[in-house]
Amino acid sequence: MKKKLPITRTSITFISVFIMATAITLLCGSRGAGISGNAGEADSLKGLKDYYRNYFPIGVSVAPNSLEGAQGEMIKRQFNSLTAENVMKPALIHPEEKMYSWDNADKIVNLALANGMKVRGHTLCWHSQTGAWMFRDSRGNTVTKEVALARLKDHITTVVSRYKGKVYAWDVLNEAVVDDTDPAKVFRESQWYKICGEEYISKAFQWAHEADTGAVLFYNDYNTENPVKRDKIHNLLRKLLAQGVPITAVGLQGHWNINDPSEQNLRDAIDKFSSLGLKVQVTELDVSVLSSRTDTVKTYTPEREKKQMDFYKMIFKVFREKKDVITGVTFWNVSDGRSWIDRPNRRAYPLLFDYDLKPKKAFWEVVNF
Ligand code: G3I
Repeated sequence: MKKKLPITRTSITFISVFIMATAITLLCGSRGAGISGNAGEADSLKGLKDYYRNYFPIGVSVAPNSLEGAQGEMIKRQFNSLTAENVMKPALIHPEEKMYSWDNADKIVNLALANGMKVRGHTLCWHSQTGAWMFRDSRGNTVTKEVALARLKDHITTVVSRYKGKVYAWDVLNEAVVDDTDPAKVFRESQWYKICGEEYISKAFQWAHEADTGAVLFYNDYNTENPVKRDKIHNLLRKLLAQGVPITAVGLQGHWNINDPSEQNLRDAIDKFSSLGLKVQVTELDVSVLSSRTDTVKTYTPEREKKQMDFYKMIFKVFREKKDVITGVTFWNVSDGRSWIDRPNRRAYPLLFDYDLKPKKAFWEVVNF
């Protein structure tokens, strides 16, 4: 038979305090709509980078003035890696053959290093945001392969050398593989490819490596979880590695939406690329609530919000599980109001921070594990 415990005034007080404390914890606890829809500041004293300290750096893409003011403070609190969203791209950093424009890129690199953050370099060779002068002679004719490669070499060598020891990783080659569903069609018909053929690819990595032997060198692309494109990239990288091309990592850009990719396709992509001995980063993460180009619903409906929360929870669970090969996750800009994909007539609400820089509910799904 159980003995009855004596109920004293002290034990009643203790029980009351316990019940009250539990209720307060449940109402205001470390997660949930209450806080994320509220000030959000209390918990954001601890940033994404702190929750992921034992996993991988958490980065964000920025403009040169992003680190000023309240947004700057928020970035320093949340992130420990920066990528220039635009100003290190060829057209901006090297607008004319004899002219490099360093100020904006220097600003980002110096601010990052002064605040103990890592810097990823984006990007050395791309079909887009590259000055037309790279491919034309003084009369406007297309240059020869020799001239194009010489210009690419000058560009890569000069930029990588300037930031040697400061920029730890470079997206050497961006989006060189085409989306075509025909597995036989591999290369994007860029100016680089049309003028130089495949050769520009291996050369780009070789020149980046010569300029900074310590840098991590990435092939970076989107739709890397689509099995057809994934396999094209995988086969290309396998071939290049067999030739001794100094590629060390693959960037999955991560421009995703609440329905795509599936968990299986995400896992398969990470496994497939890392099976080549390459490290993997998610380099440009955003998760649109719009799932197609024709989707124009403007409101952040509870259903979309929930799907986005579940999606963010799923992908970060996968990233954590694969932390041995995932060496970084970078968001493509800070907040919904500053995303390239969010437009007044087509709201995408793709990031973890809202228009007021407050953490959204999806934030808590990412940090509570
Ligand atoms: O800076 C000018 C401004 O002076 C001008 O008034 C304004 C008028 O349109 O344009 C501004 O430049 C824009 C620039 O972003 C800075 O905001 C360009 O038009 C615009 O094209 C450019 O878009 C960038 C896009 O790359 C270009 O392809 C996005 O910000 C940038 O987020 C996006 O990033 C790419 C990655 O580099 C590679 N992967 C895909 C990703 C998303 O497209």
